[in-house]
Amino acid sequence: MLLEVEGLTKTFGGLLAVSRVSFRVASEEVVGLLGPNGSGKTTLLNLIAGALHPDAGQVRLDNRDITALPANARARLGIARTFQLVRTLPKLSVLDNVLVGRLYGRDGSGLEAARTESLSLIASVGLRDKAQSPASQLTLTDQKRVELARALATRPKVLLLDEPLGGLNLTEVRAAVAMLRQVRTSGVTVVVVEHNVQAVRALCDRLIVFNYGQTVVEGGPDEVLAHPAVIEAYLGKSSGSNLAAFS
Ligand SMILES: Nc1ncnc2c1ncn2[C@@H]1O[C@H](COP(=O)(O)OP(=O)(O)O)[C@@H](O)[C@H]1O
Ligand SMILES: [Mg+2]
Repeated sequence: MLLEVEGLTKTFGGLLAVSRVSFRVASEEVVGLLGPNGSGKTTLLNLIAGALHPDAGQVRLDNRDITALPANARARLGIARTFQLVRTLPKLSVLDNVLVGRLYGRDGSGLEAARTESLSLIASVGLRDKAQSPASQLTLTDQKRVELARALATRPKVLLLDEPLGGLNLTEVRAAVAMLRQVRTSGVTVVVVEHNVQAVRALCDRLIVFNYGQTVVEGGPDEVLAHPAVIEAYLGKSSGSNLAAFS
């Protein structure tokens, strides 16, 4: 199994943000994490990436316990991520942002090879003409492309995406979904937090739904999205089963 989390638990003060969460992700699988705001999805990605350490539980990559490793060590082992609120290196050019990923990721190469590979990734996310622009001058959707290219530049075994479509307009969402389908086709294993149900359906092999830090339902997209507990988790009991509002 490529990625396994077992009994992961994280509290902030008295708040139980992630509570005994366990799941497995096979190589080349694309798994979607759903759940209302505050249900612990970002915290879970932080625990997998090593930005946070759990109070209990384990994270394993390729059957190796990586729970005690810091984020940079996990990146070198093949865990890459993007952020819910984009985090580029604003003063650096697009190229340098992606180069950072290539140089500090898995099996780092020499500078010239790294530049060539970075430029190719930049082209693949549609930013060929902006390679020399400072990241701060880009629109949100282009900054998200930089983050994706930087994450891919590390040659990840597992790519963690936190709301990759958040804040994008309809046209931008379509382009982003097409790009993520390509990532999927290239064989990268992905764990993606996303609210856009159509996109989740188009991208994911399997969905896991969280509420109050716990797993509610897990399974194939059709099965999970039709599940009463999922509708309830998003809308609350009183709202009834209004799937239109959910999507
Ligand atoms: N660094 C933090 N310090 C304190 N509370 C936090 C922190 N990060 C998240 N939380 C809390 O943990 C819960 C889960 O948050 P989060 O993982 O961001 O949820 P989601 O990504 O599903 O919206 C929320 O109640 C949130 O306020
Ligand atoms: Mg979040």
